[in-house]
Amino acid sequence: MLALPRVMGHRGAAALAPENTLAGIRRAAATGVRWVEFDVMLTGDSVPVLFHDDNLKRITGRDALMAQTTYKDVRALDAGAWFRPEFAGEPVPTLEDGLALIRELGLGANIEIKPTSGRDRETAAATVEVVERCWPAAEPPPLISSFKRDSLAVVRDRAARLPRGLLAVRLPRDWLSAARVLECSTVHVAGRWLTAKRAARIKAAGYGLACFTINDVAQARTLLDWGVDSIITDSPDVMVAALS
Ligand code: G3P
Ligand code: MG
Repeated sequence: MLALPRVMGHRGAAALAPENTLAGIRRAAATGVRWVEFDVMLTGDSVPVLFHDDNLKRITGRDALMAQTTYKDVRALDAGAWFRPEFAGEPVPTLEDGLALIRELGLGANIEIKPTSGRDRETAAATVEVVERCWPAAEPPPLISSFKRDSLAVVRDRAARLPRGLLAVRLPRDWLSAARVLECSTVHVAGRWLTAKRAARIKAAGYGLACFTINDVAQARTLLDWGVDSIITDSPDVMVAALS
């Protein structure tokens, strides 16, 4: 079974640096966390980039859809200044840039495929293409997770060796059949909807179990007591210090 780290930085280290940026990945590494989670979607011209929202406004100030903006235009935007002035000029990174930095820092990666509407399969195919091209086959590959089953199916069909994680806010009734069909190694659920019983069921079925987004140490300890393997947190500094 895939060995999940006890702590993963969420969107890099979202409480410490602008989410889904190279500065955020560097900040996460500085906390001592071993893995980071980040989101991947496509620009209008199909370049996979690290980004969470359909609209660019919250992060860059520009009111436009990512799916309708070219990479050239996205690249010119500032994805850091909204967080703190010291991060001004931080761009929206490509997946390729993100993976290069992750390798340089020796981190593990959980790539969350986060497609904009109607692009589940295309986003997965583009993600697989970059991972296969940029990540050495001899190194443990990134974990690819998604809420979108069509995305996970594309990863299974095109790159079966890449481990997959089934994401859900609340564990759906059919989680086990979905995880089996998609040949997932892990299940990732929102901590607030998990119960000890559900955690035990997931673990008994042989899956790695990750919970998001956990920023409270007491809640993290409870989840770990229930058998959760990995805590995905905005504050890897706090969690690494408390849980290691
Ligand atoms: O991968 C776990 C978590 O990142 C899922 O939620 O919305 O922060 O991408 P979100
Ligand atoms: Mg995410």
